[in-house]
Amino acid sequence: MSTTPTLPTTPESLLPLVHQAMDATPDARLRQLMASLTRHLHQFVIHNQVTEAEFEAAVDFLIRIGQATGPKTNEVILASDLLGVSTLVALVNNPAGHLQEGKAHSHAALLGPFWRRNAPLCAPGESIARGDTPGIPLEVSGTVYDAQGCPLAGAEVDVWQASPVGLYENQDPEQPDMNLRGRYATDVQGRYRLRTVVPAGYPVPTDGPCGELLRAQQRHPFRPAHLHFMVSSPGHKVLITQVFADDAETLYTDPVFGVTAPLVGHFERVTRDGKPLALLTHDFHLIAGETVFPHPPIP
Ligand code: BEZ
Ligand code: FE
Repeated sequence: MSTTPTLPTTPESLLPLVHQAMDATPDARLRQLMASLTRHLHQFVIHNQVTEAEFEAAVDFLIRIGQATGPKTNEVILASDLLGVSTLVALVNNPAGHLQEGKAHSHAALLGPFWRRNAPLCAPGESIARGDTPGIPLEVSGTVYDAQGCPLAGAEVDVWQASPVGLYENQDPEQPDMNLRGRYATDVQGRYRLRTVVPAGYPVPTDGPCGELLRAQQRHPFRPAHLHFMVSSPGHKVLITQVFADDAETLYTDPVFGVTAPLVGHFERVTRDGKPLALLTHDFHLIAGETVFPHPPIP
């Protein structure tokens, strides 16, 4: 005996039909995510009584962030960053500071759009400031540990940063290729050592739809000065993180919400041979897992 199919009569009666239509999705995770997403979207529309004009504007925004994404910029990731979603995904998937097998592991942070694969391999202590990159020299060192707290020899520390004028090498034709990027292997005691220049804070790109959103919300675009790190070792989860200068101007108002307390590094200001120098020590703690690298957001 067949039952008469139901048709929606009210806003609230639509969701069960949408769920029913998707119920046969063979992939259980896709089924769960889509059911949850549609539940939240329907609640959002009903709760806010979204107007047709607002819906059209939202669709237009999505179209424009897609269209604005290309070889030099990724507005889709930037939108996720500005909504705090990229940081949220990093925090949810890397429950740092929590105890795993008795040991804490490092906080993760969003990847950002500017990581490139295959940065130059560097010798211990080598500088990533290539050409005549200006800036106050910065020496960074530390140890990479495994989940048991043992130093990890041969781990890779991939570092990248903006120049003192606040631009990444792939945004700035004035900088040499791969400037301020490098990969270091830890020594037998798990230590790494690198030289660079003190990074500057810089604005996230504001020339696209995401810039319009920031202006509409009266938010500033300036990220606090930071270094990016991707630390990896076979058999360990790849750690993607950032270390922020403790004297950075916008430390508490990062537009992409990447700063957590353990990621604030003490940039010790000293002089050597009468010249200013900064020193930073930062250790990394990896956890066991699959070694999966991300795709570069900008190819
Ligand atoms: C970055 O840190 O490189 C970054 C992160 C999010 C948006 C833009 C830049
Ligand atoms: Fe950055």
